[in-house]
Amino acid sequence: MNQINVGVIGAGWVGGIRANACAVHPLVDELHIAEINPARAAEIEAETGAVRVTEDWKELVASPQIDAVIIASTPESQRFPIVRATLEAGKHVLIEKPVAPTPAEADEAIALCDAGNLKLAIGYTRRFDPKYAYVNKTIKAGGIGEPVTCLVSRNITREIGAKIKGRSRMSPAAMGGTHSIDFLLWCLQPRLPVKVYSQQSGKLFNKVSDTPDHQWIMVTMDDGTTITAGSGWVLPLGYPQYSQSWIEIIGTEGALTVDDTHREISINTTEHGIRYPLSSMPGEPVDHVFAGAMVSETNHFIDAVALDRPVLANAREARLVMDVTMAADLSAETGEPVDLEPRS
Ligand SMILES: NC(=O)c1ccc[n+]([C@@H]2O[C@H](COP(=O)([O-])OP(=O)(O)OC[C@H]3O[C@@H](n4cnc5c(N)ncnc54)[C@H](O)[C@@H]3O)[C@@H](O)[C@H]2O)c1
Repeated sequence: MNQINVGVIGAGWVGGIRANACAVHPLVDELHIAEINPARAAEIEAETGAVRVTEDWKELVASPQIDAVIIASTPESQRFPIVRATLEAGKHVLIEKPVAPTPAEADEAIALCDAGNLKLAIGYTRRFDPKYAYVNKTIKAGGIGEPVTCLVSRNITREIGAKIKGRSRMSPAAMGGTHSIDFLLWCLQPRLPVKVYSQQSGKLFNKVSDTPDHQWIMVTMDDGTTITAGSGWVLPLGYPQYSQSWIEIIGTEGALTVDDTHREISINTTEHGIRYPLSSMPGEPVDHVFAGAMVSETNHFIDAVALDRPVLANAREARLVMDVTMAADLSAETGEPVDLEPRS
């Protein structure tokens, strides 16, 4: 068996899910973890049995025996030096979105991958949710004719919003909207985005920060298909890490509707009232199974590295998503639509 050794840098909520997935994957021999929070480091060491847990990510990058590194540390704005050093060390990378804080750094990462023949996967986890994969497959197979318009409205609770707001000045477009834009650009391939318009609204977080509460993004594709993607982070507290999405794709010969609001299972208790379990974006473990997409995504990355297969969400696609989310932020600031430079 062609086993690999994997490093995880930043083993918080998401990195913890990924580290646990690596720990039981048959194609992973050694798991190495870098985590600066000592309490979390001890916890994840006990959970995964990693061969090394260190507070210094540079140790992982310098280790010749490590083949691939998953980078899930925060804040996002300080992650690029880790990405650059890991790629320069000749290791494959899975990075949580966004791929880089600036387009120049994203281009640098792509150039390093090309030069080193390395895989750079981006954590666009929605692509590994069967409902989203079904939409992609159906559109690409012409199952609803030619797409006319696509809507994704995604909202998360203010509990996660406050966590994000505290560590980053990134907009709802760059943090949550990026998932919906990636998903729709993927479904609509080979069409390309040509025009972006966006508006933000802020009545809660912006009282204490410069972070808006919600952002709508409208995109026109080169064949005239329109996209509307909304992203907000001020839902009332509910189930921990609750997220809800609503998807409508209208085509010339049909329509696709996805209710991703997690209403299919509820628990009602005297302490918390009604809650919707298993509703966090990456998913969560339930005893012997994982309810959600992130473990499948992590397994896909391990398989891609160990068996030399392409990654599903690559850096060039993420760079295109970045063009759209940056244009959205510019549009929200200026109040004007933004034309995108042609990109293949
Ligand atoms: N794909 C998805 O569905 C999804 C969902 C939620 C979050 N995310 C993304 O995942 C990333 C992580 O989010 P999170 O909620 O797990 O964050 P988190 O704050 O829970 O975890 C980050 C961890 O990184 C550690 N860390 C910070 N700097 C470090 C360093 N220099 N070296 C080693 N460890 C370091 C922190 O101690 C913390 O444990 C973010 O970029 C977020 O946007 C993706």
